[in-house]
Amino acid sequence: MVGKICGTGSYVPPRVMDNDDLAKLVDTNDAWIRERTGIGKRHIAEEETTSFMAAQAALRAVEQSGIDPEEIELILLATSSSEMIFPCAACEVQKAIGAVNAAGYDLNAACTGFVLAFNTAQAYISAGIYKTVLVIGADSMSSLVDWTDRGTCILFGDGAGAALLRAEEGAPVYMAAHSDGEKGPALTGMSRHRKGWAEESDNESYIHMDGQAVFKFAVRKVPEIIEEVLEKAGTDLKEIDCFVLHQANCRIIEAVAKRLETDIGKFPMNLEEYANTSAATVPLLLDEMNRKGRLQRGQKLMLAGFGAGLTWAACLFEW
Ligand code: COA
Repeated sequence: MVGKICGTGSYVPPRVMDNDDLAKLVDTNDAWIRERTGIGKRHIAEEETTSFMAAQAALRAVEQSGIDPEEIELILLATSSSEMIFPCAACEVQKAIGAVNAAGYDLNAACTGFVLAFNTAQAYISAGIYKTVLVIGADSMSSLVDWTDRGTCILFGDGAGAALLRAEEGAPVYMAAHSDGEKGPALTGMSRHRKGWAEESDNESYIHMDGQAVFKFAVRKVPEIIEEVLEKAGTDLKEIDCFVLHQANCRIIEAVAKRLETDIGKFPMNLEEYANTSAATVPLLLDEMNRKGRLQRGQKLMLAGFGAGLTWAACLFEW
C-alpha cells in the first residue's frame, strides 16, 4: 500500500509585506531582493498562530478529499515555530478539524520538515499501521527572524500547507533523508525570546545564518539526494514530470536544475508571492498546483527539502 494524496489545502495570512515595505525597516531594496532570491513579497501573521494556519490548511485538504475527519488516524505536523512547546500543534489541529480518532504529533526538521513528515506517513502506510494520514507543514517565520538583520529577514514568510494521504494500491514510493549536525551552526534559530515582527530584537535570539554556506550546501546536496532516490527507484531523471523543491531561493532551484541538466520548467516556483515559509513551502506549492489543475494522476513527482540541522530529504511518488 502507498499513501495517495486525496486532498490538499493551504493557508497564508492576509497581511502582505512586499520588498518596499521591508526597505522601510532595513537597508535593502526591491531590486536586490528580487535579483538575489526571486522573492517579491511575503505574508505575515498578525493574530494567526502556527496551529491556526495549520488547521485552516488542514480543513481545506479534508474538504477537498471528501473524507470525514473522523476517519483520519494520524496527524503529522512539521513545524519549528509552534506558538506553544506543548500541547503540540498537531493536537490543536485535531481539535480544530474534529479528527477525534487521530493520533498526532509534531516533527521539527526546519525547512525539511514537510518532506520528512510525508516520508514518515508513507512508511506508516506501507507498514499497514495507518490508512488515512494528514501531513501538514506550517511555520510562522516572522516570529523567529530578527527584523533588523537584512541578511535573513528578507527571506522568510508565514503560511501552512497540508496533504491528506489515503492508503491505496499503487507504484512504490522511494525516499531518502540525511542530516549533518556538524554543520548545524550554519543556520540556527532560538525560541527563548520570541517576539512579533514589529518589536525590537535583542540580537542574541532569532535566526542566525551563514547564507553562502547554506546556499552551497543546498546546491550540492539537493541534486545528490535526487540522484540517490532515482537510483533506488531504478529510474531516470527524464522520467520525472515535476520537481517540487523547498522554496528558499530561486537561484538555488535554478542551480539544482542546471546541475541535473533538467529543464527549469519542471521546477515550479512560487516564492515571488510567499518567500520561504519553511516547512510550509512544499505543501503550499503542491496545493497551488493541484488547485490550478497542473497535476495529473500518474505523473511522477519528486519532492525535495533542505534546511537547518543541516537536514535534507527527498521523495519520489506518483500523483
Ligand atoms: N539588501 C541589500 N544588500 C544586502 C542584503 C540585503 N537584504 N543582504 C546582504 N546585503 C549585502 C551584503 O552586506 C554584501 O555587501 P558587501 O558586498 O558590501 O559586503 C552584499 O550584499 C553581498 O552579500 P552576500 O551575503 O554575499 O550575498 P549573497 O549573494 O550570498 O546573497 C543570500 C545572500 C542570503 C540571499 C544568499 O546567500 C542565500 O540565499 N543563501 C541561502 C539562504 C537560505 O536559503 N536559507 C534558508 C535555507 S532553508
